[in-house]
Amino acid sequence: MSTRGAVVLAVEHLEVIYQRAIVALRDVSLDIRDGEITALLGANGAGKSTTLRAISGFIGLDNARVSRGRIHYLGQPIENWRPDGVARLGVRLIPERDKVFPGLTVQENLEAVASPNLTKIQRSQLVELVFETFPRLVTHVRKSAGLLSGGERQMLAIGAAVVSRPDLLLIDELSLGLAPVIVEEIANRLLSLRREMRLTILLVEQSASVALKIADYGYVLENGRVAIAGTAADLRRNPSVQSAYLGHGASNVERRSYRDIALARGALNGGRSPA
Ligand SMILES: Nc1ncnc2c1ncn2[C@@H]1O[C@H](COP(=O)(O)OP(=O)(O)OP(=O)(O)O)[C@@H](O)[C@H]1O
Ligand SMILES: [Mg+2]
Repeated sequence: MSTRGAVVLAVEHLEVIYQRAIVALRDVSLDIRDGEITALLGANGAGKSTTLRAISGFIGLDNARVSRGRIHYLGQPIENWRPDGVARLGVRLIPERDKVFPGLTVQENLEAVASPNLTKIQRSQLVELVFETFPRLVTHVRKSAGLLSGGERQMLAIGAAVVSRPDLLLIDELSLGLAPVIVEEIANRLLSLRREMRLTILLVEQSASVALKIADYGYVLENGRVAIAGTAADLRRNPSVQSAYLGHGASNVERRSYRDIALARGALNGGRSPA
């Protein structure tokens, strides 16, 4: 990309400590640019979820704090803000777990999060956009979200986020437990939503091949630090990224997730799986 968008979110030398004792992030700096998809990659425990939850304010609910560094959104410092305050700025997190309300129907899930700043017409236009993007949801509008398949749930989670009309969408693990073909489908729909809504997206994704296919830029975290940064094309060519996450391009290996790799390593270490 020759002319890149302005930096909307700047994370500078972030340190995050859980329960005043566990250092999860040591030094994380990221520039998230307007209209881009930025991928955040890394092994289990590297600090990906903590980064997204620090930005969106949710670490506070887990007795964690940003202890050093800054987070600027549109020039405003937002570190250690409450989640509702960050949400009001148009930043929306789709969390790693509990992405939808299982006891509510699909329709109710879409209504539950709608931003109060939107008119009724704007809301129904957004719901319409969700149904156009994910036609499968239409057939399930009255179904409890808890009865949806994994892929449909993920579509609903993205749909519910879309209805809140965010400017910056933080997505934690698009592909968790999903078949690669569904992941690709959802990833492609994200590209079209980005276009339709001029979204900026920060995407944590286990499948580096999917993430680097749709992303403009990427960062690899290791032990709470940024180890590698570059355009998605740079990362795809990077030998360390290839050997750790892309399996040298062999298609069956390419689909292996970090979790699989970590589990395999755990198995070699006497069968212990990672936390
Ligand atoms: N609520 C918590 N309390 C204490 N430590 C935590 C908590 N959540 C995460 N951590 C620790 O912070 C570090 C980073 O965890 P994080 O969940 O951010 O990793 P991740 O990169 O998202 O991993 P995964 O790929 O497994 O989801 C880990 O060492 C983890 O054990
Ligand atoms: Mg995580």
